[in-house]
Amino acid sequence: MKNLTSKMLLNMWRDFWLKNGHKEIKGASLIPEDNSVLFTTAGMQPLIPYLMGKPHPMGKKLFDCQPCLRTNDIEDVGDNRHHTMFFMLGNWSIGSYFKEEAIKWSYDFLTNEKYLAIPKNRLAVTVFQGDERVPRDEKSASLWKECGISEDRIFYFPKKDNWWEIGGGVGPCGPDTEIFYDTGKPSCGKNCDPSCDCGKWVEIWNNVFMEFVVEKAGDPLKKLPQQNVDTGMGLERVVSVLNGYKSTYQNDCFEKAISVLENLSGKKFDFEKKDSKPFAVVCDHIRASVFLLGDVKPTVPSNVGQGYILRRLIRRAVNCTKSLNIEAKSLIEVAKCFIEFYKDEFKNFEQQEQFILSELEKEIEKFNKAIDGGLKEFSVVTKNMKKGDIIDGKTAFRLFDTFGFPKELTLELATEKGFSVDLKGFEEAYKEHQQKSRDNSGAMFKGGVSQSESEQDKQILARLHSATHLLHSALRKVIGNGAEQRGSNITTERLRFDFVCDHKMTPEELEKVENLVNEAIKADAPITCEEMSLEKAKQSGAIGIFESKYGDKVTVYTMGEFSKEICGGPHASHTGELGTFKILKEESSSSGIRRIKAVLK
Ligand code: ALA
Repeated sequence: MKNLTSKMLLNMWRDFWLKNGHKEIKGASLIPEDNSVLFTTAGMQPLIPYLMGKPHPMGKKLFDCQPCLRTNDIEDVGDNRHHTMFFMLGNWSIGSYFKEEAIKWSYDFLTNEKYLAIPKNRLAVTVFQGDERVPRDEKSASLWKECGISEDRIFYFPKKDNWWEIGGGVGPCGPDTEIFYDTGKPSCGKNCDPSCDCGKWVEIWNNVFMEFVVEKAGDPLKKLPQQNVDTGMGLERVVSVLNGYKSTYQNDCFEKAISVLENLSGKKFDFEKKDSKPFAVVCDHIRASVFLLGDVKPTVPSNVGQGYILRRLIRRAVNCTKSLNIEAKSLIEVAKCFIEFYKDEFKNFEQQEQFILSELEKEIEKFNKAIDGGLKEFSVVTKNMKKGDIIDGKTAFRLFDTFGFPKELTLELATEKGFSVDLKGFEEAYKEHQQKSRDNSGAMFKGGVSQSESEQDKQILARLHSATHLLHSALRKVIGNGAEQRGSNITTERLRFDFVCDHKMTPEELEKVENLVNEAIKADAPITCEEMSLEKAKQSGAIGIFESKYGDKVTVYTMGEFSKEICGGPHASHTGELGTFKILKEESSSSGIRRIKAVLK
């Protein structure tokens, strides 16, 4: 359908389900009720208790338009189809209808002239092929046939394609039937079917038949007390494929933001060109940021949890302003476009507008300050360089990694001064760093178990680890150099540190320690690391465990003037990232050894 907009699609969705006896539920907060995941990633998530059997106050037939946020593909945002935040249209049967009505309604919405009017030969569907637990879904296939989908457009696929469960596999689940749109591109070969990603097929809607549950990890599949239907249709994706657009950013919701960016930058957003990536990243990230700040449970930028993701989104958007050659504070104008576009649907946007914009502004300023630190470092590293010299990849990467200095900025400054940058070396250093983080994430942190799973956890653990170094130094300043480390254990919740001390610490001593750590955090010193011989490390005054297990060469982490310690990392890149340090408890660990538990807030 040409000229379909996201607003039109949402109206059609409403009209269709209201006509078919469903009640509209308001999209839930992006921040889930329980803390099992950081964000709402699918429309069904807020409905889990009802899918499991609890009666829903609005009845058994429901629909909505749920903002969802997924960060696993954040690096891919900026191509023609990835987003962090997107809208999922969903309809639900909470123990009411099942396969028959669900499939017939889906077919009607898709093909009916009054709704999406897709010719049926443009559709293909997939159903579950069955496994040792659940039989082949012949019922869904025959229902599709009854609707008029020809047999050669019905595909049976295994669990990896046609089974839906929440990440981790615990919770309500079941086989699904997925609906694909044939873009009309020629088939890429004999085996080109909807599982092929050549671009011919685009999944537009998923109907999950949730009649099973896995109660705990490792449990067998059990039948739920009721049969449910859970569906999901990506709003941005449907608008784009039905219009035959090249990109999901060709959408009425992004139009104003794009035109603001085009006017300011003097550049054109060409949806097919790679160099348009900064436009798309800004649109996606600022829209997501507006939704996080404007949520009924607002998130603010911070160094932990949802706040950390928000910080990353804003900072990535700021980086893109460099490539667009516009001022970072223009992002405020972009945010205003989204507030305007969505304020009728999301009533609290208007009320929270000032808050959204001022938080955004504060974060942009903070990031600009961090960049100032990078500029100083840039002068230091290039002090003795001459025109024509090359900034090596490792140095360019350090500017990026330690000072948050975008690669594009290094390149730009280098060009201004007549230097060049070894970009290949930069990529190599980047890859090496990623590999190291992967290796580290499975490894033990010094003295403590820290099996981190997600990128998010890794960041939290790294910050607590840096805080442990600051604590160690602060203790030595307050109690004396005898306060040597005897143990350390870090979880995503807190740090624990054991050290030599012959008395219970007084409240005054604890306060002094806490203040010293917080001052070191406020100073926002870069956290740098250097490899050197054990001898040299000792001479330089580094503290830490001087055991031979670290080998001859050791890594020394320095945090400004405050701390120098031998350690294997990983750490935060600036002390300023740590937030606020708070001691929760001081107690005896064993004779002559005290233990502190502390958190970052
Ligand atoms: N819960 C299903 C999905 O997210 C509909 O695809």
